[in-house]
Amino acid sequence: MTILVTGGAGYIGSHTCVELLDAGYDVVVVDNYYNSVPAVLDRVEKITGKTLRRYDCDIRDRDGLEKVFSENKIDAVIHFAGLKAVGESTKLPLLYYENNIWGSIVLFEVMEKAGCKKIVFSSSATVYGNNPIPYKEDMPTGDVSSPYGRTKHFIEKILGDVYEADNSWSISLLRYFNPIGAHESGLIGEDPNGIPNNLMPYISRVAIGKLEKLTVFGGDYDTPDGTCIRDYIHVVDLARAHLCAVADILKTTGIEAYNIGNGKGSSVLEIINAFEQASGIKLNYVIGDRRAGDLPAFYADPTKANTRLGWHAEYGVDKMCLDTWNFQRKNPDGIR
Ligand code: NAD
Ligand code: WQD
Repeated sequence: MTILVTGGAGYIGSHTCVELLDAGYDVVVVDNYYNSVPAVLDRVEKITGKTLRRYDCDIRDRDGLEKVFSENKIDAVIHFAGLKAVGESTKLPLLYYENNIWGSIVLFEVMEKAGCKKIVFSSSATVYGNNPIPYKEDMPTGDVSSPYGRTKHFIEKILGDVYEADNSWSISLLRYFNPIGAHESGLIGEDPNGIPNNLMPYISRVAIGKLEKLTVFGGDYDTPDGTCIRDYIHVVDLARAHLCAVADILKTTGIEAYNIGNGKGSSVLEIINAFEQASGIKLNYVIGDRRAGDLPAFYADPTKANTRLGWHAEYGVDKMCLDTWNFQRKNPDGIR
């Protein structure tokens, strides 16, 4: 079986390529390296001892994508390619809509033309907006606070319409919670350009001395320690969820959404504490103002993925912090 992985050189994509290759799939990657470097794919090959096919191609490039489908017999697609910075999306909404939504439409059209109608799509917990916690898949979605989040909501709806029009599609919408951690080898991990927006890469850059101090965004929330609560998920657990979803879409038709989270919330202070334990480093941090748009607390009810996909998260926050730190220490200047 051959799986096309769009955005396969990125953070979650690269970890998923490792799991796919280890499981015996042939892997074809399409990436334009907007937020990654080709060396990541060399490292995927080093970890697995296997090779993958790679195309330096933008998903908005219809001719380029058609070439990928004509040169490979693709059985299913895992679609990671997209822009993901929430703050940036409020400043550059058209770029986000064009890249994420238009890019996805081109991909779906090329898939349809090639007769490949099986796809796992990277969605996000952000589609739930302000729902009661824990989030469940049948809750209303779409009350979203950022253009980035809206791209995820709209693409879910587009895929819903695609399935309504043609029931031979098989579509899995994976709603990720907060992925952190890295591959145990320390060869691949999260390596954002510039100053990180997300908590864990910020923490690890403070720990390695590249940033001076972490600001905890708000200490006055209505939570046990006053800081926000999120459902952190090890990126390797998340990557393995894609294997379960691929196995499922290969044998069925339909469209289903799944929460991919641990089902447990951790506060910012708990994550800081877990990181300090794992690294032995005292983190320099201050409690600052709230960040606009942050919800006080959310976490997943992952029962549907547990029961229907047979997927379970294995790792806790200690392992997530240990592996993040191992990656950061081994790659102080990122992946080159
Ligand atoms: P990432 O930026 O590390 O990876 C995305 C990859 O897609 C990058 O390699 C980038 O170069 C590539 N890409 C972007 N636009 C492209 C285009 N037009 N054509 C070809 N390649 C393109 O991000 P990630 O953290 O690995 O996230 C992967 C997916 O999961 C994204 O769709 C993201 O929105 C979604 N997601 C991420 C998180 C998270 O916290 N990391 C949470 C929920 C959902
Ligand atoms: C986690 C917690 C911050 C940085 C975002 C997207 C979401 C999904 C995952 C893609 C929050 C706090 C952070 C810092 C802090 N991505 N924090 N200081 O905001 O939960 O989710 O990434 O789909 O859509 O919105 O993740 O890592 O930015 O923040 O105190 O310097 O850490 O306030 O409570 P978030 P995050």
